[in-house]
Amino acid sequence: MKLLHIDSSVLGPHSVSRQVSAAIVDRLRQASPSLEVVYRDLTEAPLAHLSGSHLAAAQGAPPPAELGSDLAASKAALDEFLSADTVVIGAPMYNFTIPSQLKAWIDRIAVRGKTFRYGPNGPEGLAGNKRVIVAISRGGFYGAGTPTAALEHVETYLRSVFSFIGVTRLEFISADGVQVGPEHREKALATALEAATNLYAA
Ligand SMILES: Cc1cc2nc3c(=O)[nH]c(=O)nc-3n(C[C@H](O)[C@H](O)[C@H](O)COP(=O)(O)O)c2cc1C
Repeated sequence: MKLLHIDSSVLGPHSVSRQVSAAIVDRLRQASPSLEVVYRDLTEAPLAHLSGSHLAAAQGAPPPAELGSDLAASKAALDEFLSADTVVIGAPMYNFTIPSQLKAWIDRIAVRGKTFRYGPNGPEGLAGNKRVIVAISRGGFYGAGTPTAALEHVETYLRSVFSFIGVTRLEFISADGVQVGPEHREKALATALEAATNLYAA
């Protein structure tokens, strides 16, 4: 069994989502000691934004020499995702959505013919063989009924993307209100870490 662990917070050891994503991976590793874990830190090794040259090369145009390493990085990111049975993602909220580093990764794994296709009945996801678990960390509160609920574009966006590519086993563990104050932060982190510990392990 293979697990792909992705982090995208720029806050290094101070990051909440990194602590929670690590706890999720620990939980799954303890349950399956033979688990093969691949780690990708999107802030240490960021993927470039998509370019026109990149898309042309993906459609068979001869790539310019300077695109070689980018295409290799793109293939590596997609291969890692395709071969993973479980994907754990640390996803902080920055300006109401995911970090651009995580969006750049999604641009490399949402690939027509690989993770989705257009069939006679419209789009069809091809990545349904995976479990995806997302550790979200948000400074404020965005739950249903709150004044800021409509500004939530982390969980809603990731739900859309992963559903589009066929993932049905999609879970979220959230630490909310971490910027409201130190007590809120401690409580939110403790609750999220406990949820990670209690995660269904199979
Ligand atoms: C650049 C930046 C933008 C942020 N934007 C928001 C935001 O729009 N809404 C929010 O509730 N919190 C926001 N925050 C607070 C973070 O969501 C919060 O600190 C969270 O813990 C970040 O996850 P991390 O600790 O894993 O980096 C922002 C933080 C940073 C650094």
